[in-house]
Amino acid sequence: MAVERTLIIVKPDAMEKGALGKILDRFIQEGFQIKALKMFRFTPEKAGDFYYVHRERPFYQELVEFMSSGPVVAAVLEGEDAIKRVREIIGPTDSEEARKVAPKSIRALFGTDKGKNAIHASDSPESAQYEISFIFSGLEIV
Ligand code: RTP
Ligand code: MG
Repeated sequence: MAVERTLIIVKPDAMEKGALGKILDRFIQEGFQIKALKMFRFTPEKAGDFYYVHRERPFYQELVEFMSSGPVVAAVLEGEDAIKRVREIIGPTDSEEARKVAPKSIRALFGTDKGKNAIHASDSPESAQYEISFIFSGLEIV
């Protein structure tokens, strides 16, 4: 195992629910360090670029509209085995499934369904590197 950095984005649905503080606190309680933090609103174009890997998927347009529908907060989290552990803490993509198989996960607690699922997290070292540099410049990472 190694110390890794990963990117999370608290999505517009969780921001609207007022869940930002609870979500950030959960990662602090789990032992991660916040190395960068930013609130912004995606334009549809930038949301499309961020989720470029999904451009051929049937849900792409819906995803781009959702991610640009309101403010989000992105953070770089650092810790042992961070990429895999953060994915475990957020739970499965579908919030309904999360409530069945991982009731303490962030998506179980704050997500609605498969599309509006409260939080994004990088799923591999390659995507973490791409996504962190997509959102943050070097000077913004402490
Ligand atoms: P994320 O990238 O946001 O962390 O989510 P994920 O890895 O768990 O899931 P992924 O397959 O990468 O899908 C990206 C996001 O697209 C939306 N989605 N909607 N309606 C649908 O069938 C559907 N499937 C995926 C979700 O917002 C998902 O998080
Ligand atoms: Mg993904």
